Amino acid sequence: MLSDTTSTAVGGGGDGEDAENQDAEPEPTPPVRNVGRRKSVFAEAYNPEDDADDQPAVVHPKSDSQRASLAEAVKHILLFRSLDGEQMQQVLDAMFERRVQAGDFVIKQGDDGDNFYVIESGKYKVYVKMDGEAEPKLVGGYDNAGSFGELALMYNMPRAATVQAENGGSLWAMDRQTFRRIVLKNAYKKRQMYESLLNSVPMLKTLENYERMNLADALVPRTYTDGDTIIKQGDAADGMYFMEDGEVRVVKIDGNGVEKEINRATKGGYFGELALLTNKPRAATIFAVGTVKTAFLDVEAFERLLGPCMELMKRNAEDYEQQLIRIFGSKSAITDIR
Ligand code: CMP
Repeated sequence: MLSDTTSTAVGGGGDGEDAENQDAEPEPTPPVRNVGRRKSVFAEAYNPEDDADDQPAVVHPKSDSQRASLAEAVKHILLFRSLDGEQMQQVLDAMFERRVQAGDFVIKQGDDGDNFYVIESGKYKVYVKMDGEAEPKLVGGYDNAGSFGELALMYNMPRAATVQAENGGSLWAMDRQTFRRIVLKNAYKKRQMYESLLNSVPMLKTLENYERMNLADALVPRTYTDGDTIIKQGDAADGMYFMEDGEVRVVKIDGNGVEKEINRATKGGYFGELALLTNKPRAATIFAVGTVKTAFLDVEAFERLLGPCMELMKRNAEDYEQQLIRIFGSKSAITDIR
């Protein structure tokens, strides 16, 4: 799907007004899926400069094997993606182990936030109790991977959910100050940076706020200059791209080896998802037209975070075939590697 057909691709999000509102009074609202949609979840009036850099670093000594297993556990934590090497070392120093038994409540909804947790092992269930409802509802869970407990620390609000251990396990915890001083500053900048992009992609409107924030954490900027090959037909796929700025040409090689332009994409569009949906090689080549800014999402994060968009992406992908028949005359004229 290249330029979204459901609404204007370029700046078509319409939710951008909060971006101008950054000086407004800080009144964070829980960015929780069950609490209904907010227009913007990124433009919270958090000022990263409020968290002083001059606090002493927290160091919890660890054995080599502890450090190695911690380094492994944090590898896939999206919130840590924008940290540089030194910041990452500080994060690893600051974390301490917390063991849990089956049934332990790691976090209780409504409590003040103390720590952020990265899962070393164990299964955990997430419950949310809505106002007016008698019982908490199971809204999700974690299975030996992932992290939780960031919301209360990020938005200075009570815990938005209860997290309970299903079996015995082990967690790596990070205190609130270290989380805010190192992780939050970076994650906040990134979430802000990608707010307007995520708002401009109509397909992503199917995601809940909490899911879109996780997506912002996972995106990686990739910039190209005129004529660069961003994707090559026939190559193996490692991720997909969202268009942040500029234009790309989509080119396909026909049965005679002749290249034909089949589409273009601009801001709000996306490409590179088809090979991930079909588990096949790249079906077309993508060239940059002028300077192009994209946000890249790797295949692992794609599978983890874009589940709610899969059906829409698949439906949009069905249009590709019609488009090819229109351009190439018949299906048999196409080098079909899909
Ligand atoms: P926090 O509010 O600090 O503590 C509870 C944590 O549960 C929360 O941060 C999130 O990390 C995590 N969580 C997982 N799923 C949800 C959800 N659907 N709504 C709110 N919090 C969730």
